[in-house]
Parts: sequence; C-alpha cells; structure tokens
Amino acid sequence: MKYRHSFHVGNFADVHKHVTLIALLTALKRKDKGFLYLETHSGRGAYDLSQASAEAEGGIARFSATENNSEELQQYAARLADYRIQQGNPRAYPGSPLLATGELRPQDRAVFVELLATEARALELAVAGNPGVRVEQGDGFDRLRGCLPPPERRGLTFIDPPYEETGKDFERVTAAIREALRRFRTGIVAAWYPIKDERDIAAWHAGLARTIDSETLASELWLYPRDSRVALNGSGLLIVNPPYLLAERMQVWLPELQAQLDAGQAGGTSVRTLAPAPPA
Ligand SMILES: C[S@@+](CC[C@H](N)C(=O)[O-])C[C@H]1O[C@@H](n2cnc3c(N)ncnc32)[C@H](O)[C@@H]1O
Repeated sequence: MKYRHSFHVGNFADVHKHVTLIALLTALKRKDKGFLYLETHSGRGAYDLSQASAEAEGGIARFSATENNSEELQQYAARLADYRIQQGNPRAYPGSPLLATGELRPQDRAVFVELLATEARALELAVAGNPGVRVEQGDGFDRLRGCLPPPERRGLTFIDPPYEETGKDFERVTAAIREALRRFRTGIVAAWYPIKDERDIAAWHAGLARTIDSETLASELWLYPRDSRVALNGSGLLIVNPPYLLAERMQVWLPELQAQLDAGQAGGTSVRTLAPAPPA
C-alpha cells in the first residue's frame, strides 16, 4: 500500500468533503439525543501543510477565510481558524477526525478506524483526552459491521477510502453502504469518491440506484472536464438518508466554493437525487 493522505491533504476534494462533514454533523446536532460518528478510513487527523504537496495550493490555499456568504463555508472557515490558533500554526490542517471530534457534544461518540498502524497511532495522540472518542486499527469496511447499529440509534457513517485499486474500492463502498443500511436503516451514510472518468461514475451511480432503497444524493464539485484522464477531475460525495434541507443548502454553498477553488474556470457543481426517498 502506497497511499499517504499527507501527499493530498488540503486539496479541493478535502475541502468539499470537510465542509460537507461539518454540515452533516451540524444537522445531527439539531436534536439533543446523542449520536455515533463512525469513520471507516480516518487517516492521521493532524496535518501540517508546510510539509504537504502542491495539491493544497489548488485547494485550501484558495479558500477564502473571510469572504464567504453561506453559513456552511463561514462555519468551516471558523473551525479551520480555531484549529490553527489552538495549534499555534497557521499551516496546520485538521483532517476529518479532528473536525468531527471538535463537533461532538458530551452525549455523542466517535469511532475512528484506520488500517495503517503509524497513522492510527498518530490519530490516537491527536484525539487523546477527548471522552467518547475511540481509535481502532483495522479494516474500516470490516469494522463497520461491529459498530452498527449504534445503541443511540442516531449516527453518521463516513467512508473515505484511498481508491488505490480504483475498481475494488468502488465495489467495496457499494457493499459497505448496503451493509450499513441493512444494519441501521435510518443512519446517515456519506461516502467520498473520485471523479476521474465520467462513464465509470455514471455506471457506478446507476448500479447503486438500483440496489439502494433509501434516499441518496450525489454532491459533486469538479475543477477539470469530467472525462479528462489527467488526474483527479472532481470530488463526489454520496449521502444516504440526507438531513432535511441538506440538498437545498448545498445548491447554495457548493457553487460559492467552486467559484473560489476553480482558478481555470473549467469546473462545475451538481447536487442531485440518485435514489428517491421510498414511499412512507
Ligand atoms: C483518504 S485518506 C482519509 C482521510 C481522512 N478521511 C480525512 O479526510 O482527513 C484514506 C485513509 O484510509 C486508510 N486506509 C486504506 N485502506 C483502509 C482500510 N481498508 N480500512 C481502514 N483504513 C484504510 C489509509 O491509510 C488512509 O489513511
């Protein structure tokens, strides 16, 4: 395995993913009852962009900390600023486990799974002292079964694999979403995917839509033509059982985010329903 998130951290996909994550957790906090946040592919949590690749230059470096109209972007900017102050480092960057930990209330819990021992150990240190937070080293797709359904009966499962063996991770994500819903039908599931080839994504979406009978959204942000085979053209997130008004709000903040990140003006955004809510 070669993937290290440090090489990609802070890229445009991370920004899309992390703004969405905070919006999802904010929605869960509308109710007092506690929830489980389960992340299957967590990474090390704490990053320093001074040691990162140029990818952050095309992502978080273009994100404006001050000129955001939508509350979701303002909220993300505030979390990032707080984290940097707390770390005493203007180039510090919080990965999803640290952003999520910052959102938890005393009644909420988090389980973070990471395959690589070095990354899992680093994450353990980064979240040490936070009650209700547990780090497990292992295969996130396998561990998902043991964590669902949560006794709280409320939760978000966040699936963010590296797609090193691209085809295999798409298949495993489909299986993981189905398994998560089989165990916990009302839970929210968010799964990130890379947009590299339009035809592959269309076929995957069509297959998913046939097999999932829960409401599912696809939120996408791309900066390059969707079928240029150069590298990562865009970032996608599937959101199963989306919270109330999430799609409507994404229609507002996603174009605002794209306008900031899309220096070449070759990109776009889309939020659409892949699978409708089943009849009540
Ligand atoms: C894209 S990174 C995660 C980034 C993180 N979600 C964030 O936004 O900060 C994917 C991570 O999954 C880990 N990984 C790869 N295969 C895994 C598996 N089967 N189970 C759990 N973690 C895995 C990699 O070591 C890597 O740290």
